Amino acid sequence: MQTLFTGTKPTADRLHLGNYFGALKPFVDLFPKYESFMMVADYHALTTMRSGEALCHNTLEVVRDYVAAGVDPGKVVLFKQSDVPEHTEMAWMFECLVSVPFLMLAHAYKDKVAKGEETNAGLFNYPMLMAADILLYDTDVVPVGEDQRQHVEYAREAASKFNNAYGETFKQPQERIMKDVAVVPGTDGRKMSKSYGNTIPLFGSKDEIVKAVMSIVTDSNAESPTNVYAIHALLRSREELADIYKANKGKYKALKESLIEDIEAMVAPMRQVREYISDDDVKRILKDGGERARARAVRKMNDVRTKVGIAF
Ligand code: ADP
Ligand code: TRP
Repeated sequence: MQTLFTGTKPTADRLHLGNYFGALKPFVDLFPKYESFMMVADYHALTTMRSGEALCHNTLEVVRDYVAAGVDPGKVVLFKQSDVPEHTEMAWMFECLVSVPFLMLAHAYKDKVAKGEETNAGLFNYPMLMAADILLYDTDVVPVGEDQRQHVEYAREAASKFNNAYGETFKQPQERIMKDVAVVPGTDGRKMSKSYGNTIPLFGSKDEIVKAVMSIVTDSNAESPTNVYAIHALLRSREELADIYKANKGKYKALKESLIEDIEAMVAPMRQVREYISDDDVKRILKDGGERARARAVRKMNDVRTKVGIAF
């Protein structure tokens, strides 16, 4: 059986539709066919977060969201990065193999530098920690959004560098980017992202969903509101939408209401499940997942430690 691995940074306490359609749903659809791992990347979050309380809170919320959205902790190893210290150990070894100019080409780093913003060394090394996440589990497939494609390429490069230096050790992982949902647009038409404040929350109350959808920017002279349609296309087939948009030509409010109804129909059952998952349930799930993940990572790490010469 092939291995599937994905992760999310707990930098917000609620997922949005971009996270759901770009990462979570593809994962939920895929995981039964693989040996699957889903990781909360709390160390990656430290590149930007400074509140310990918020990080703790977000981690609990995100896991609750995953489970409510269909990630079955009995079948998927659901864990947090910091519970498997082998990830940071492995990242260090990759950092000793790749060059500084190579890391300088990473989008996340380059974009920050281009904006004149301060970059910390954690952000600079981010791709090597992510490479460790992926490679320690002999991952075959990494379901991610388009924005993470380069990071998986970096993981392949880290694997090659290690294999060339020490002999065949790591598998080459492949990103899986769902074509139709590669970039979910936000309420302003740009990529939906918490950093743009243009999100529609996945587990928001009905009122919050209504507010977000009603705020979708529409083009005043088009027959069909592009931004509304683009989000609607995630929930319904082209044929169904053709009928709805034909019947409501120019009626933006009615089209938005139809979108709200569809989002609500999808979210309501998940929201209900979510209410019954306590903090203690989440902690139990993470503890169990952490132990299972660690057992696997340690096996790989022992081989690595021997190869690089730090284990006798
Ligand atoms: P944000 O952009 O809100 O900060 P993250 O970077 O935390 O989101 O993304 C978490 C996961 O969700 C990643 O796998 C990312 O590729 C995916 N994702 C986030 N936003 C979108 C989007 N608008 N469309 C598709 N996938 C997305
Ligand atoms: N960098 C990813 C993001 O921003 C999160 C992540 C960390 C991840 N480690 C991973 C994704 C390993 C897939 C595989 O969303």
